Amino acid sequence: MIIAIDGPAASGKGTLGKRLAHHYGYRHLDTGVIYRAVAYALMSEGADLKDEARAVAAALELDPEKFGNPVLKTQKVGEAASVVSAIARVREALVNFQRQFAADPPGAVLDGRDIGTVICPHADVKIFVVADPRVRARRRTLEARARGEEADEAAVLADILSRDERDQNRPIAPLKPAPDAYLLDNSNLDIEGGVRAAIDIVEAVRAGRQRV
Ligand code: CDP
Repeated sequence: MIIAIDGPAASGKGTLGKRLAHHYGYRHLDTGVIYRAVAYALMSEGADLKDEARAVAAALELDPEKFGNPVLKTQKVGEAASVVSAIARVREALVNFQRQFAADPPGAVLDGRDIGTVICPHADVKIFVVADPRVRARRRTLEARARGEEADEAAVLADILSRDERDQNRPIAPLKPAPDAYLLDNSNLDIEGGVRAAIDIVEAVRAGRQRV
């Protein structure tokens, strides 16, 4: 089974993806990390984030062993990832890696922006996670502070809003729910509540299938 989880910045889709994968014994790919890794490669070289040729080269040379680097989680790299991810050829260079990950047994949970729409349009279950931007800004600020980074909540909110705007309005693979995605608003749910709601969705889809 393939489970696609999409949603805007700091919606909690990453944690949800990880927890769902654990629940079902599936592998998990946080696809945001891939775009963050490409952006970080350019930043480390001192290259322009809009340098298409270098960005594509970085995408083709990706080393999944480096996905655990904590610097990839920072706000700065996240913002840069949103610039790099708007380049069509960068996205194309990353499609196969993601589809291969999804296809390998026993099943997979992928989270990102375009999993249900572009990467895995035939995913068995699609969940689109949303939350009020102020709630997302609060969560992201607390996360950053917990890592020891300084974070100003108003600035984090501004970053989230500009990232939403960029991700939703780019011409290629914009952030939007697939027509057959289930919406999950976790503004008023804690992590456990969100995980339970997602499991309920997956189980309802499975049960519906068995009846057919
Ligand atoms: O953690 P957060 O939700 O803030 O961001 P992320 O999922 O790590 O993704 C960082 C950026 O990469 C996003 O703002 C998107 O622009 C881009 N991205 C994308 O375009 N497509 C994906 N499947 C995943 C991320």
